[in-house]
Amino acid sequence: MIERNDWRTSSTHRQRSGFALVTVALFVFSGLAAVSAAPVEKEPGASTYAFFDEWPVNASTQYSFDGSGINVGHPGYGVAGAQISRISDRYSTPDGENLTFWDRTDVPNPREISNSLCHESTFHPDSRNLSDYNWLWGQFITHEMDHTTTQDGRTPDQDQPDTAYIPISEDDEWMGFPGGFQMRFFRSLVINGTGNGDPLNQREHPNIVTTWIDGSVIYGSDEARADWLREHRDGRMKVSNYEEGDLMPQANYDQDPTTPGMSFAGFNFSNSFVAGDDRANEHVALVSIHTLFIREHNRLAAAIEDRNPDWTDEQIYQYARHINIGLMESITYNEFLPSLGIELDPYTGYNPSIDPTISNEFATVAFRMGHSQIGSEMIRLNETRRPIAEGHLTLREGFFDVSPIIDEGGIGPILRGLAFNVQAENDLMFVDDLRNQMFGAPGAGGMDLCAIDIQRGRDHGVADFNTVREAFGLPRYTNWSDFTSDNATIELLNSTYPDVDSVDAFIGMLAEDHVNNSALGETMHLILKEQFQRLRDGDRLYYGSEFSEMDNIRNEIDRTTLADLILRNTEIERIQCDVFYAEQIFDEMDCSLPNKRVTSGNDNNEPIVSPEGSIPITYVFPLVLIILVLALVNAQKAAASWSEKQEKSEDEDESPSLSDDENGSQSLLCCRLDSEKTCKGYTKAK
Ligand code: HEM
Repeated sequence: MIERNDWRTSSTHRQRSGFALVTVALFVFSGLAAVSAAPVEKEPGASTYAFFDEWPVNASTQYSFDGSGINVGHPGYGVAGAQISRISDRYSTPDGENLTFWDRTDVPNPREISNSLCHESTFHPDSRNLSDYNWLWGQFITHEMDHTTTQDGRTPDQDQPDTAYIPISEDDEWMGFPGGFQMRFFRSLVINGTGNGDPLNQREHPNIVTTWIDGSVIYGSDEARADWLREHRDGRMKVSNYEEGDLMPQANYDQDPTTPGMSFAGFNFSNSFVAGDDRANEHVALVSIHTLFIREHNRLAAAIEDRNPDWTDEQIYQYARHINIGLMESITYNEFLPSLGIELDPYTGYNPSIDPTISNEFATVAFRMGHSQIGSEMIRLNETRRPIAEGHLTLREGFFDVSPIIDEGGIGPILRGLAFNVQAENDLMFVDDLRNQMFGAPGAGGMDLCAIDIQRGRDHGVADFNTVREAFGLPRYTNWSDFTSDNATIELLNSTYPDVDSVDAFIGMLAEDHVNNSALGETMHLILKEQFQRLRDGDRLYYGSEFSEMDNIRNEIDRTTLADLILRNTEIERIQCDVFYAEQIFDEMDCSLPNKRVTSGNDNNEPIVSPEGSIPITYVFPLVLIILVLALVNAQKAAASWSEKQEKSEDEDESPSLSDDENGSQSLLCCRLDSEKTCKGYTKAK
């Protein structure tokens, strides 16, 4: 039986010819829009959380904002403001206040150690091909777990904050000035009542954010910040709207004095984004990953609302937050740690006897590992993996400057670049932007992060490297060759430190040979494993825990990768499925989620590529114009031939019909461009 279509009349025929032209024009314009990275809506395809219509989150199954009450028997575990713990004994100083090593005049000052051991003359790429997402996730997740802030501006009861400025000699090759000078260093805030001069009551330090992986980096570590960040409508988080997609809300402290404070390290903060963690504006990659999770929250909230139109703002917000936190946990435990080569003991469920508290060995030393894994360039790429017109950024150009995101294409170019670029090897080397010019030029605020990390260890009284090893059950090193097989490093260690027992823990950990199949040396590897395991096993609400009420969506969360989040929430259409490993071959970027609008030059919505690789963006405009001309010619031909066929088929009572499935309009577009009529959705009636 032949289906007759009423559009086979000559008047509708003319309408459809006109429609073909409009469609072609729309196609071309949508292609142009894609070139300029317009915000996009994605095709469904990735996980959509099929079980939204349930409401499993109640007060006992959601993380509090300040981290309290997660362990019912120990409600203070993991709370914001908790004291950072110690696995190794604190290095005692005579009055409980002085810095470690100050009583040893033969141990060099941190800048001298940095000059001797942390100066990078050539870039060493990661030998396991880890991408820049590895260090970025490390930083994002550390901002999730710990923040030991300094006394600078935070000591109302003191005239002056305690300082421990680092001397720079006048012949310092990079920072030297006639007469020498001092690099600023403010000592850490102390827990009230500790470090009062009594040798038995040495300084201890608070962690001002929640310990748990509970989304505090996104939602805040206190109720007031969490409240400000919410839209208080339909479960959404506040955003600022930009052409390239939503960004975090921006501060306007004059108009709204309740705006939560953000760290801006002396930079102009008029455009500062506001986030759950006050360090979010530190550099453009960090802003980008924050933005991704805000978008994911709002994407989840929209989907939840769609399925549950009667839910309140609070219900939608809490459920989206709950899932978003689960995603952060899953990415950390299923992607990030394995990429470092860290394998935890198998998960056996929540263990309330485990104290998750962040240790000094972790936050003040080991997890600062990322400082050596950062390269000097922030790569920015378009969809064909060519540099964007504005080019890449140096690391320092991205410090505390949000304009590259606001004015130069949003977060997409940065997120592509991070997946493309191989990060620096975890070793003693620090790039110049962090070692000589962090947050300013030398002499104009520029600091040395390697020296600061060493000094922070001393400020917190972290013991020497060998004592830390012993505390973690590892044997002490007796020779320099125990640290590493690299002769050059052995020589430098030997010429810098008086003996193997006086090595700062931070330097010792970075100097070690890596464990097999790991990005880290033995001590660092063990400290990270120990901390992340306690954090997982002591968390009643960890998404894998039997108490998290995540049963119905656990598998979906397990399966969701950082690549999925990038594809769902940005205009990026292709990326490798495991973004923690760098990928530079376009054809190997095998995870994809096309945009809803047709955004590129072929029918599969794939970016345009030549057999040899990508076509530079500069060729795209002429190509689009050629396609336009060809398409118009073809459309007219097709319309004429179609008209002939219709007339014929009316006679023969046998006509092709467009399937009326959801691909109908796309099929129409496809067929108007393809005179052979080979595309899907165009079926011959029988
Ligand atoms: C461009 C990137 C980064 C910059 C500019 C940066 C800068 C800083 C600065 C200025 C501090 C405070 C130092 C002090 O006064 O003691 C710090 C602390 C820290 N950083 Fe980074 N960092 C970066 C990336 C990373 C990465 C990739 C990681 C880990 C993978 C990391 C882990 C840490 C940790 C654990 C702390 C201590 C946090 C605490 O207060 O508990 N950072 N960083």
